[in-house]
Amino acid sequence: MPTPTTALERIPVYRPYLGPEVTAAAQSALEAGWLGMGKLSQQFELELERFLRLDERRVVSTNSCTEALHIAARLIGLGPGDEVIAPAFTYVAGHQAMSRTGADIVFCDIEDRFLSIDPARVEELITERTKAILAVDYLGLPCQLDRLMEIAAKHNLRVIEDAAHAFGSSSKGRPVGSFGDITCFSFGPVKTITTLEGGAVVTSNPADVQALHELRHLGIDSDTDARYKNQRNWEFDVVRQGYRCHLGSVPAAIGLAQLAKADEFIHNRQEYCRTYDKAFAGLEEAGHVQLFDTAWKDVAPYIYVLRLRDGARRKDLIQHLNEHGVASGIHFLGAHEFSFYAGSRRGEMPVTEAATEQVLTLPLHPYMEEATLSRVIDAVKSFFG
Ligand SMILES: Cc1ncc(COP(=O)(O)O)c(C=O)c1O
Repeated sequence: MPTPTTALERIPVYRPYLGPEVTAAAQSALEAGWLGMGKLSQQFELELERFLRLDERRVVSTNSCTEALHIAARLIGLGPGDEVIAPAFTYVAGHQAMSRTGADIVFCDIEDRFLSIDPARVEELITERTKAILAVDYLGLPCQLDRLMEIAAKHNLRVIEDAAHAFGSSSKGRPVGSFGDITCFSFGPVKTITTLEGGAVVTSNPADVQALHELRHLGIDSDTDARYKNQRNWEFDVVRQGYRCHLGSVPAAIGLAQLAKADEFIHNRQEYCRTYDKAFAGLEEAGHVQLFDTAWKDVAPYIYVLRLRDGARRKDLIQHLNEHGVASGIHFLGAHEFSFYAGSRRGEMPVTEAATEQVLTLPLHPYMEEATLSRVIDAVKSFFG
């Protein structure tokens, strides 16, 4: 049974589910004694392929989404002299994964409806140096991937989809990851399902799997299959520069236990988002907040975000929520403002600039009691009077 949040407890933004199935899976993997990448890592990949309804596509698990994005960037040959068009409005993990290759980030604005990269603005930023587009499914809402893929086809670009927030979301009946070019997921500590730390790349081209295995594991050509049998291949060649970012057996076991509950987690999260939306409809009518234009039907929400009409009030709302025992978060700051990216090329960013001031993330967990939701709702409503 999930542990309830008591009436007195401070309500955190995130609360991963670590119930008995999860701890039992971890314990059994520990007792098996094969701790590195192994059978369980492969089993997790195969189960992800089943969950995401992949046909030809394949999953390569990693120790984080950041590393998944990084090996995806290496796979497409991103490097010095290349440009990647990316939203400024996303977590810096995506930017760092790309810029680590030596490529330059070009910051692009987002569209106002779902706050994902705006395809019209992308097109304006393309030059002969552009090699890829980084698209992000903000909070679980699928980005406009079909349009981005059209643009990419026209200009011979690759599209890396950062679906760290969108595990279990669908678009037009297709699970995120089952269409598009390259998709990366996160199974970090607070994500919809967790492997403590972890991630995965989904490639649309099965021929890329070997390269991804090499990139994931020190450029080694032929050890992955042996490890998937809890064995080692002691004679191998090193065929490229690789990294070391595979998923170990204990995290994979935790991931398998989480995946078995993913449908329930997602169903609950959708219900809680609807409860919030219903409760805040009056605030929207009164012009205090803007809610996302979704019924959460095909969306697996990772976070619940309120958009304040008056961003100047966010600081006071955070303080007010704190006083009522409710934690909140900010997703995201504008990465174009970070010192490290000060020299990066960028387009005009009116939507990004407004969004970074307006967004406020409220608690959303895989299991929440009615009383917990009510405490959050009452705390928000009491701020607006
Ligand atoms: C949009 C986005 N992309 C990538 C990441 C990085 O994921 P990870 O922590 O698994 O490296 C995060 C982490 O929260 C994220 O929010």
